[in-house]
This record gives sequence, structure tokens and C-alpha cells, in this order.
Amino acid sequence: MSDQQQTMKLNSVPEPEFCLFHSDCVAGMRQIQDASVDVVVTSPPYNLGIDYSTYDDKQSRVEYLKWTLEWASEVKRTLKPDGSFFLNVGAAPANPMMPHEIILILGDFFVLQNTIHWIKSISIKTRAGETISTGHFKPLNSKRYLTDCHEYIFHLTKTGTSQLDRLAIGVPYADKTNINRWAHSEGVDKRCRGNTWFIPYQTIKNRAGDRPHPATFPVELPLNCVRIHGNVSTTVMMDPFLGIGHSALAAREAGVQKFIGFELDRGYIETAMTSLGLPLTEIKIPTAK
Ligand SMILES: C[S@@+](CC[C@H](N)C(=O)[O-])C[C@H]1O[C@@H](n2cnc3c(N)ncnc32)[C@H](O)[C@@H]1O
Repeated sequence: MSDQQQTMKLNSVPEPEFCLFHSDCVAGMRQIQDASVDVVVTSPPYNLGIDYSTYDDKQSRVEYLKWTLEWASEVKRTLKPDGSFFLNVGAAPANPMMPHEIILILGDFFVLQNTIHWIKSISIKTRAGETISTGHFKPLNSKRYLTDCHEYIFHLTKTGTSQLDRLAIGVPYADKTNINRWAHSEGVDKRCRGNTWFIPYQTIKNRAGDRPHPATFPVELPLNCVRIHGNVSTTVMMDPFLGIGHSALAAREAGVQKFIGFELDRGYIETAMTSLGLPLTEIKIPTAK
């Protein structure tokens, strides 16, 4: 490819517009127009006492669920009728019902269209009969509880009928005879990945330097979500709980049109801006509509 062709190719994938707000997400989302966002991918604090820099992750159960309704109602208002809201939540032995309580109260606002399991670590038997383990987990020393190797990604929509581009994250058939056996394959070696997504954390040596936040999701998680929603080049994506910006990095990799993020903690949002290669002077604060 000539230099000119190379430049044209690079220019044909425009950089998304990034709007990263140092702000409370409820106040921030109130400034966003109704039905203007295609995809929301987020992971709120789980109320499990995580040691965030600014946010206090220990509210009463009632206060926490009340607040969940408050921010989720802004997500609903800003989401387009055919939009997708991917909500990542996990549990802990001390609070095993929390993801289920959240999804029950959100049932008044959204339809649960898909439940995806984010698998962080798994042990499987290979075809040769060997048991292999892959991925990372937090060891749990207990005679009562199993080590927690997964979290939920609830796919919530307004009507339960949002169309997905399932093959955007499709996987090849293990048995190639299926390609011709299944008419819906249309001769293509790609099938739906299903609702168990194995996404391991990257191995890091130094948390403060490599991943300075206590509760991130890997970039691949929001990347999968935005890709299966489809039509990425015209997508407006939002993350109300941005953390250090892994959803924003996914937005850039996917090539969405616009990304909007909110984060309370100045240090986290600065890390996000730096990872995106954006100047800190471009961190925004919401202004009244
Ligand atoms: C589970 S973390 C999200 C991490 C993110 N997914 C990532 O990969 O970096 C939740 C984040 O929400 C932020 N937060 C808590 N309350 C908030 C609020 N009201 N508005 C905006 N951000 C908030 C916390 O500071 C924390 O960084």
C-alpha cells in the first residue's frame, strides 16, 4: 500500500468525539438530551466496601437501591428506544443477593433482554483429557464459599426487542461440518459466541502504575458490548461510572461516533484522559441545559 493510500485508510476511521465529565453522573446525565444515547456500558459501585479514592462504597442497602433507581432513571431517559444498556455487576459472599436485587428493581424501568456471564477464570478439560485453568481470580480461603470467578452483564432494553449484531463478536465453529449443516450460518464460519464471555484480566506487575483503580473491567468487556449492539460508526456511547476509562478505550477501538463519560474522582478521570492521549484541560464539567 502506498503512503497516500495508507494515510487515506487511517483518515477513513474518524476519532470518536470524547466528552469526559468530572462530575456526579446523575447531575451530569440531567444535561443530556432525552433519547440521544445508543449504548450505555457501565459498572457502578457494588456497595461492597471497595476502597475508592473519593466515593464511599458503604451505603445502607435501602439508600443504595434508592440511588440505583435515581441514576438508572436518567439512563432510561437518555437511552434511544432501540438502545442497549449493559450493566455489569458482581456480588460477594457477604452480599450475594445484590445483583439480583438490582435487576429486580430495574425491572420496572427496563426489559432484561439477555443475561451474560463475564467469566474471569475457568478450568476446562481439553480434548486430550488434560484439565487446564486460565484467567485470574481473587483467592478466597473459606470452607463455605467457592472462589468467585464470574460477574453478570445484564443487557437491558426499553422493549426487549433491540436488534443485536451477534456475529460482530462471533466465533468460528469448532466442528466445520456445521457451516453447511446450519442454514442460518449462510456458509460463513462464524457462530454466535453465546452468553458466557471469557474475559481474563491482563496480568499486571504493579497495580499503582498499571491499573490504578480497585474495580475495573477489562477493555474487551465494553468492546464486546458496543460491537454486538451494532452500527458502531454512528453510535453514541455513555458510561456514567467511568473509573479510569476502560469503556472509553473500548469506544475508541470500536470507532464509535461519540463517547460520554462521568466520574466523581479527579485522579481516575485524569488517568482516563492520559490513556486516551487527551490533554487534561479537555476534562469537562456539566453546564446547565
Ligand atoms: C466500579 S467503578 C467503574 C470502573 C470502570 N468500569 C473502569 O473500568 O475503570 C465505579 C466508579 O464510579 C465512580 N462513582 C461513584 N459514584 C459516582 C457518581 N455519583 N458519579 C460518577 N461516578 C461515580 C467511582 O469513583 C468509581 O470509579
